[in-house]
Amino acid sequence: MARIVAGVATSHIPAIGAALDNGRTAEPYWKPVFAGYEFSKQWIADLAPDVIIEIYNDHASAFSLDIIPTFAIGCAAEFPIADEGWGPRKVPPVTGHPELAWHIAQSTILDEFDMTIANEMPVDHGLTVPLSITCGQPPQWPFPVIPLCVNVVQYPPPTGARCFKLGQAIARAVATFDQDLRVVIYGTGGMSHQLQGERAGLINRDFDKAFLDGMTKDPLALTRITHTEYMREAGSEGVEMVMWHIMRGALDADAAEVYRHYHVPASNTAAGLMIMENRRAT
Ligand code: DHB
Ligand code: FE
Repeated sequence: MARIVAGVATSHIPAIGAALDNGRTAEPYWKPVFAGYEFSKQWIADLAPDVIIEIYNDHASAFSLDIIPTFAIGCAAEFPIADEGWGPRKVPPVTGHPELAWHIAQSTILDEFDMTIANEMPVDHGLTVPLSITCGQPPQWPFPVIPLCVNVVQYPPPTGARCFKLGQAIARAVATFDQDLRVVIYGTGGMSHQLQGERAGLINRDFDKAFLDGMTKDPLALTRITHTEYMREAGSEGVEMVMWHIMRGALDADAAEVYRHYHVPASNTAAGLMIMENRRAT
């Protein structure tokens, strides 16, 4: 049987990818950001998962504003790197896991989540930057990745509570897959940031710290944060944090925090990373 052994939540700031791609990680601005990612690289290399489910949001790269699925799962064998306006990042294409992806699609849809099935989907910084953060710059990504895309760019995004329940449904799906796979789930986005309007540049350390603490203290309470509260407290793009709840919902209630990193600012954003493990996981 497949099982989820751990979760990673992390920001997906595009400038982090650019700093890596352009060899600038040792510069004073970037050094403390990347120093905090070293642990995660060793941790995931040691864990050597068989497959990753990566929750992220598309930034109008695969889906324009013509079609905006609330939840879309990538069932393809390979996902090309999106061109976000300055050419695709020079990172390896992402290998999928069609068998597990189709199983999750079937299981979650029959479990009453109306998932869109994507058989072709270029993946943007939302997906590639978390891979770069945790894997560095390998010639090929060390594991297959199932992209699961969430709408947080056009109102109304799903609620945190709905996202948490989707995470629980994903865990049920994985548990009924008949191959012996160790799965890690990534939830990306956030933390506090606002890229537009009068409050552009907003960062709220207190909100972010309470959110990180809440992932273990009371994750259900966190799911009750409304969109308006995210907007007010964490900025308009802070609403990306609803995706962390999918990761958290997919883990056991008593999952343990293994590591966190928080740094302000990286680009316009508070960069956060949290690693959690299921206690029963082996
Ligand atoms: C930035 C952060 C994001 O999450 C994003 O999608 C785009 C830009 C930023 O900090 O610049
Ligand atoms: Fe983003």
